[in-house]
Order: sequence, then structure tokens, then C-alpha cells
Amino acid sequence: MRIGVLTGGGDCPGLNAAIRAIVRKGIDVYGHVIVGFRDGWKGPLENEYEELTIESTRGILPRGGTILGTSRTNPFKHDGGPEQVRENLSALHIDGLIAIGGEDTLGAGSRMHDDHGVPIVGVPKTIDNDLAATDVTFGFDTALQVATEAIDRLHTTAESHHRVMVVEVMGRHAGWIALESGLAGGADVILIPERPFDIDEVCSLLRRRHARGRAFSIVVVAEGAMPQEGTMELAAGDSDEFGHVRLGGIGQRLEQEIEQRTGFETRVTVLGHTQRGGTPTAFDRVLATRVGVAAMDAAHEERWGTMPALRGTRIELVPLSEAVKELRTVPPEDYEAASPFMG
Ligand code: F6P
Repeated sequence: MRIGVLTGGGDCPGLNAAIRAIVRKGIDVYGHVIVGFRDGWKGPLENEYEELTIESTRGILPRGGTILGTSRTNPFKHDGGPEQVRENLSALHIDGLIAIGGEDTLGAGSRMHDDHGVPIVGVPKTIDNDLAATDVTFGFDTALQVATEAIDRLHTTAESHHRVMVVEVMGRHAGWIALESGLAGGADVILIPERPFDIDEVCSLLRRRHARGRAFSIVVVAEGAMPQEGTMELAAGDSDEFGHVRLGGIGQRLEQEIEQRTGFETRVTVLGHTQRGGTPTAFDRVLATRVGVAAMDAAHEERWGTMPALRGTRIELVPLSEAVKELRTVPPEDYEAASPFMG
């Protein structure tokens, strides 16, 4: 068989481990040819590809990023895009495509499969950990480690200077990184997109903590966290081909508001893309390898329209459409479990 592979959307640690697993299993075990498409959906759309071999994928297991490159190209936003992708794949005699991505890349993959008959197997990845149908996505554990380490470091300087430190982490619609790094790092306030916050309440938690004799605090905020309607103004950014607005800015706004309202000296640190970069943790390397191997098995068995998912400790094949139906956001009870540590 000739199997295509692409990585789309935001990069994340573990993508190369997944590519390596697909290539190893595909070539060594099944004797297939693996064609790597460049830059997400742009590759099959514009016919940019290279053959991947055991040699060309050597040494990439611990490397961050993706050797294939990535983009936020959406074939459905281009005139005749899906038809062009199908034509290009068939001209290259591709029997099936393994698309590694998050909600956007896999959402496009699911539509390509269901509406355009393209044989697709999805592989879940995202630091946001917000894909349905899988318990965890690779990339999340590494991002969580980066954010937790940053919070630990900010803790010591916050304490020395008696400051409030606001740490902005990624998480557009889901607050998994904020919640878990906040818990792991002992944050005093955690703000997530699932629960619009009240700035008065945030400030009273900080005042209460200071009144109890702690002269510094850590506030962890997800980039997609929103104030309750009409309570704080936010600037709007540009959007990408999937209609997602460029975020980043809530941290700065909180810095100003908290300092103004409480009089406590406040500083913000935006972790941004540091959370997506660098070497994957052992957990992410293993998970990426397991889902990569399972995706190759699924492609070999022509189980198109599926995605390997982590369910408990096992990898299971689930319908791709199930994974992209809705986002896996933080349930209220998980957020409530963090409340004893606030303030
Ligand atoms: O989807 C992963 C993610 O890291 C989000 O958390 C974040 O909002 C977005 O990507 C940032 O995208 P970009 O790198 O295109 O700015």
C-alpha cells in the first residue's frame, strides 16, 4: 500500500514520535510505502510531499515540532479544495491518509472521509487536551510540565518581591493546562474558559490570602478565559482559516485590573509557544508511539474513518466523527475540586 501522512494545526511535542512509529510499523512490518505531505492539508492540496523512510526518520523520537511542517490550511476554505485533495491523492496512488491533528485538522479529515470518500485514519494530538473520544492527547503532558515548572519558578520570585504573578497558559476553549498546572504548581486562583470569571471575586480571593499573612499570590489564567459579560473589556484579534481568533491578552488585562483594584504589585508572564516547544516527556513519547502504531494497523486493515484513542490504559479505535463532534472541556466538578486551594 501507499500511505500518506500529514501533521496539521498547532505543532506539539510527540508529533515526530508518532511519525516515526507510523514509518517503522508501515515499512518494517507491512512493507508499505509512506508518503509524507508537507505542512498539514496544504501538502495534499498543493501536492507537496516527500517519501519517508526508516533512514529519514531516524533520531526524531525525542525531537519537538514536526519534520513534516504544519499549517492551519483548511481545504474547505479553498475553492474546489476537497476535490483537489482527492485528485492529488489519487494521482499519487495513495491508498489512504493518516492525518495527525486536533479538532480542526481532524474535523476536515472527517468531512473529507464522510463527504468526499477520502480514506482517512486520524491520530489525536494537541497540547489543549480537548479532543473528545480520547482520555488524553499527546502533547498535553509536556505542556503541563512546562507550565508547572514555570509556575514553580514564578513562585519563588513572587514570594521574594511580595507580588501577584499572573501566568497565562494556552487553552482556547478548554482549561486543562490551566487547571492541572495550577493544581500542580499550587496556584491561588485558576481561571478557565469554561467558567467566565468575576474580577471582584478574583480580587477578594487575593485580598483574603494577603489578609491571612501571605504577601504574594499566583494566578493561572487560560488564554481563552473570559470575564463575565460587561465586567472587563478585552481586545479582539484576527482569525485563522478555521475561524479561530488569535488569543493572548487576558493576562495583561488581569495584571492591570488586579493591581488597580487591590493595590498589590502585579506582573504577568505569558508562556505562549514555550508550552508547545521542545522535547516530549516520556509519557508523550510513549502515547504518540502507541497511537502511531495503532493508526498504521488501522490503515493496513483499511479501517477508514477511525482514530486510535486512549481509553483508560488501552488504545482503542473509535469513529473519527465521534472525536470531532464536540470538544472535551473541563467538567464543573473537576474545577470545583480545585476550590479548596483558591485564595
Ligand atoms: O491548538 C493548540 C494551540 O496551542 C492553542 O492552545 C492556541 O490557542 C493555538 O494553538 C495558538 O495557535 P498559533 O500557534 O497559530 O498562534
